[in-house]
Amino acid sequence: MTLSLRPASALSIALLLGGLATTVQADSDLSRDQMAVMAGGCASCHGTDGRLSGAVPALAGRPAELLESRLLAFKRDEVEDTTVMDRIAKGFSDEELSALAEHFATIDAP
Ligand code: HEC
Repeated sequence: MTLSLRPASALSIALLLGGLATTVQADSDLSRDQMAVMAGGCASCHGTDGRLSGAVPALAGRPAELLESRLLAFKRDEVEDTTVMDRIAKGFSDEELSALAEHFATIDAP
């Protein structure tokens, strides 16, 4: 018997596992290392330090309140035209999403 995964489902599983891994190891009181690991997962799509801009929106230097409200909206299924962020946001606690928003807000915009 062969186990064949379509590329799309393999990607979903990778994203899911990434989300689970970060949820398990991070707590509300986040160390610099934990923050680096959590935010590092965003770089593959949003660019190094969240500076990429194009089809995927940039994160760096945007207001923390805006980023946080967007992340919470993704998590709560309040964004209709989302492709992946709804699933990604669900992998984090509200406190972690808030910390991620703060993190990217403090990086200089491109
Ligand atoms: C698989 C690619 C991918 C990864 C990984 C990813 N994002 Fe996104 N992100 C997107 C896309 C695509 C959008 C546009 C909305 C959508 O289609 O879901 C987006 C939108 C956003 C937005 C809304 C920005 C705006 O201007 O409305 C925020 C905030 C965000 N992402 C934060 C993050 C954070 C924080 C992480 C890491 C925990 C992350 N993203 C990881 C692809 C990704």
